[in-house]
Amino acid sequence: MKIKVNQGEIQTIEADTLIVNLFDDVTTPSGATGAVDQAVGGAIGELIASGDLTGKAGEVGVLYPRDAIPATRVLVVGLGKRDSFNLESVRQTAANGIKQAHKLKAKSVATIVHGAGVGGLDVQAATRATVEGSLLALYRFAATKQESEPLHDIDSLTIVEFDGSKLAAIEAGSNQAQAIAAGVALARDLVNMPPNVATPSKMAETAVSIANDHNLKITVGDRAWAAERNMGGFLAVAKGAGEPPKFIVLEHNTDREDLDTIVLVGKGITFDTGGISIKPTANMGAMKSDMGGAAAVLGAMKVVGAMNLPLHVIGIAPCTENMPDANAYRPADVITASNGTTIEIISTDAEGRMVLADGLVYAKQYSPKAVIDLATLTGACVIALGQGMAAGLFSTEDSLRDKLVAAGTAVHERVWPLPLWDDYKEAIKSDVADIKNSGGRFGGVATSAIFLKQFVDYPWVHLDIAGMALTEKDNGYTPRGGTGFGVRLLVEFLRSWV
Ligand code: BES
Ligand code: MN
Ligand code: ZN
Repeated sequence: MKIKVNQGEIQTIEADTLIVNLFDDVTTPSGATGAVDQAVGGAIGELIASGDLTGKAGEVGVLYPRDAIPATRVLVVGLGKRDSFNLESVRQTAANGIKQAHKLKAKSVATIVHGAGVGGLDVQAATRATVEGSLLALYRFAATKQESEPLHDIDSLTIVEFDGSKLAAIEAGSNQAQAIAAGVALARDLVNMPPNVATPSKMAETAVSIANDHNLKITVGDRAWAAERNMGGFLAVAKGAGEPPKFIVLEHNTDREDLDTIVLVGKGITFDTGGISIKPTANMGAMKSDMGGAAAVLGAMKVVGAMNLPLHVIGIAPCTENMPDANAYRPADVITASNGTTIEIISTDAEGRMVLADGLVYAKQYSPKAVIDLATLTGACVIALGQGMAAGLFSTEDSLRDKLVAAGTAVHERVWPLPLWDDYKEAIKSDVADIKNSGGRFGGVATSAIFLKQFVDYPWVHLDIAGMALTEKDNGYTPRGGTGFGVRLLVEFLRSWV
């Protein structure tokens, strides 16, 4: 779907479908909705008077103006209550409108920017939310299926604005949204691909094409490369893997020493069987999403490159399968990570922290201002916060925590602070090594975070995104499957850094 921006009156636009909006409890539509109402002889006002149209969130009214205007149909999308209206309402409204247009097999759609008029939101932010909501809602994974009939696509979405002074902000917001949506789609695709396709090699190929498209530096380390760097944690997990492991490093603004350095690290377990500590059969397939952190980092790096953000940003993704095998690492093994820390293996299913340990140590060489890691790390985090609710956040610095929470709220990819108290160290004490890789059932999300902290000596945030990378149900602009969680959060965090 091509996105266009057009100055004019929406009721005069040559598109088969128009999208306008309505706040809950409005009796006389104003602004662009009012102008369309007048052009169609007051039909919108009549629907409101009759109670058929209320402006409630989620509502989509459909009108057929016959020949009163060029469009075949007008969709009036409910904005909900004014007092709870925000950018998330805009994304949801845009999603509701475009999904209805798609269902009706629209080809050319024109919309106003939701919330930029009476809604009173910043024009650029409202445009970003309108375009993001529309593009993300229509995302579809190119599944490996023999389709019976070709799937419908909308050709174009035109953003229409009457006020010429808003056009520059609308263009800018629209361009940002398209870059962001492309990054989210990439992350969703990687999670949605079956694990025999989204292998570590596939992750690496994807990173290479991001680097080529946006002029980033790329390094892909193999087993030998990792061995030279004593990455014992990463290599232990990879030992049982049939697919070759890849340690991916993407770098934006490589030589710009004047810019602040931020490192993103993503867990890239392309399939987590649990290894020798094998998982139960039920729903093991969901563990194809165990590279959701790496997918978010690659998606974010694509956006960082496309937007050419004025920051030195490094994306690190240690990618490997976790498989049971004659060569696999085992419970009771003692492994030495790249910083020399020795780790007693309690469970080979606590593999995420093993690969992240070396990822976090690798980040140190950049002397970063901040390191953010994202990992589908613990079931305990999902038990604590709920499926699809929020990522668990652990931070060594309150100011960094606050920045992430604010970014998460702004884009509705929520993160919620959990404690990183030293007392949790007790749970990972080992008789035979410096630490052990599992602290047991109690406080499993916090003991995994305190494990990671042993590999960190810079301002750091850990985000446990288990329960966020994959969703079973369609929800607004997030269809069932890979969510791309983390891409919009990271981009918002980086955009607001300076
Ligand atoms: N990838 C899983 C965590 C997970 C669970 C992600 C549910 C998404 C949804 C992780 O590698 C794992 O197996 N964690 C163990 C840790 C335990 C062995 C200490 C867990 O949570 O049970
Ligand atoms: Mn595991
Ligand atoms: Zn895992």
